[in-house]
Amino acid sequence: MKSRRAGAKRSHGTGTDADSTRAYAKRGAVPRLPGYVVAGDIFSTVRKSSMANNVDLNARPRDWLGGGLVKDLVAFVAGGGSGIGEATAKTLAMNGAKVVVADRRKEPAVRVAAEIVEAGGEAIAAVMDVSVQADIDAAVKATIDQFGKLDILVNSAGVIFPGSLEDCSLDDWRTSFLVNVDAALLLARACLPHLRKSDNASIVNVSSLAGQSAYPNGGAYGPSKSALISLTRQMALEWASDGIRVNVVSPGTIDTPLTRANMRPEIIAQREAKIPLGRLGVSSELADTVVFLASPAASFVTAQNVNCDGGLSQSLMVQKFYANK
Ligand SMILES: NC(=O)c1ccc[n+]([C@@H]2O[C@H](COP(=O)([O-])OP(=O)(O)OC[C@H]3O[C@@H](n4cnc5c(N)ncnc54)[C@H](O)[C@@H]3O)[C@@H](O)[C@H]2O)c1
Repeated sequence: MKSRRAGAKRSHGTGTDADSTRAYAKRGAVPRLPGYVVAGDIFSTVRKSSMANNVDLNARPRDWLGGGLVKDLVAFVAGGGSGIGEATAKTLAMNGAKVVVADRRKEPAVRVAAEIVEAGGEAIAAVMDVSVQADIDAAVKATIDQFGKLDILVNSAGVIFPGSLEDCSLDDWRTSFLVNVDAALLLARACLPHLRKSDNASIVNVSSLAGQSAYPNGGAYGPSKSALISLTRQMALEWASDGIRVNVVSPGTIDTPLTRANMRPEIIAQREAKIPLGRLGVSSELADTVVFLASPAASFVTAQNVNCDGGLSQSLMVQKFYANK
């Protein structure tokens, strides 16, 4: 298994948030896309039998424990329309969960939910902006209306505005914190009453190695992701007595539309040379880590930050990992 994954092909993802990220930058305001469909634009699906184990979806979700790791749990995946969120939504479904694919962009959210249903799972799409309270409330209500409960919240929505701190506009700074930090709190608080009723209540936030290490032209991204790690720990401590586990995953460099939009090929090659496993991660590997933390298999794990990075966070002492071989 290990060697196969180490040599795994890259997943190029299926959509990109680069345009909407640029749109944030241009307007410098709370993001609202033109023609935006307010949350509550929920696309229902019909229930089908449990997913076949060998379905080959483009995010390549893997089934664990015979596909029953999160059986019958209801999961809300913010940012589920692309990249890590998409792979997480599909892996959750592959492992028995009913999934709400929540995203600001309608087409990817609907596509991912439809692909899950086509593969035999159960999902709905919710078009919503994680930074808008009314959208969150409507999407959480739709989740309860559709599935009757909510056990797992995954927050994978995120934005990045590459550039120096010196040049970072206050609008970009604030939007970074709005989407990457504030939204995690707003989402979690809206889910809280439902999570309190669950026997497997779990929140998994998606941060970044940038939340632990600065990098050139990182601007507001690292500071906001660092705040998300801290927020996760605070949530975990405050809600432990409710039986709610809260953890955060910090991806290294993962081959997703966000990465492709923000890193030139030569920068990606340089990064790969620093990663002990010798390659970027793929979104389904992040998804596996998120799903493990969200599942009952991690029932004694809370308040933790898990780096999923191919060893990158431990390779500071080498210039070029594979050059030393
Ligand atoms: N790709 C990487 O290498 C990498 C590394 C470290 C951390 N991360 C983090 O992982 C998460 C997912 O990244 P990805 O690479 O899969 O990106 P992606 O762009 O492929 O997916 C992000 C999704 O979030 C959605 N989204 C953005 N803003 C939103 C909003 N306000 N409301 C609702 N949905 C919104 C987008 O529409 C998109 O579908 C992000 O939080 C990112 O910061 C990614």
